[in-house]
Amino acid sequence: MAPVNVSIIYYSATGTIHALAQAAAEGAEKAGATVRLRKVRELAPPEAIGSNPAWARHIEDTADVQEAALEDVAWADALLFGSPTRFGNLASQLKAFIDTTGPLWQQGTLADKVCSAFTASGTAHGGQESTILAMSNTFYHWGGIIVPPGYTDPVHSQTGNPYGVSHVSGPGGSLGGPSEVTLEAARHQARRVVEFAAAIKAGRAS
Ligand SMILES: Cc1cc2nc3c(=O)[nH]c(=O)nc-3n(C[C@H](O)[C@H](O)[C@H](O)COP(=O)(O)O)c2cc1C
Repeated sequence: MAPVNVSIIYYSATGTIHALAQAAAEGAEKAGATVRLRKVRELAPPEAIGSNPAWARHIEDTADVQEAALEDVAWADALLFGSPTRFGNLASQLKAFIDTTGPLWQQGTLADKVCSAFTASGTAHGGQESTILAMSNTFYHWGGIIVPPGYTDPVHSQTGNPYGVSHVSGPGGSLGGPSEVTLEAARHQARRVVEFAAAIKAGRAS
């Protein structure tokens, strides 16, 4: 398999998306990729963060995770983006990072990368698909090759989201973090991304 570089770029306030991102990193590494796990910069004011102990704690817990840079996007053959649902949309912190990729887009650097996305929401019908589709809008503009999980593994029938792996964390996080089944779905989504990125890379090289 051609060596594949994967950047997993995410925003997480209270840890749900971070857990999915870590599982995706495991899946991609197991599939033989070189992986960069990167959080985007927190932009919320300290008073907002301070009003939610779980948010403040998660920032402390992930202090050692490197912040995403444009170079992580340019370097990658494949990109996995993760964001919590925010009013049916992606988090503004991730969008702000995406909006810094204009120069790479102008240079044509973003075309032909394999792209995929995952999310979490408080409620089952709270906008998971719309959040993933919103992230996918960017992939179309980049000329990315979107590789969704579909139902390509039985695990996705259990978690039930062919658009991208997702988790329902419950109002105020009351249902807790992703189950082992959902984490396995995230690993599989990442493996699939690596397989397609490797095939495309090998095909283009030959
Ligand atoms: C400002 C804000 C908006 C949100 N909007 C939605 C929403 O539209 N639908 C929903 O089901 N959950 C919504 N949620 C809940 C989060 O998507 C959910 O708690 C998610 O699991 C958090 O992920 P994280 O732990 O990685 O931050 C919202 C939360 C916040 C703080």
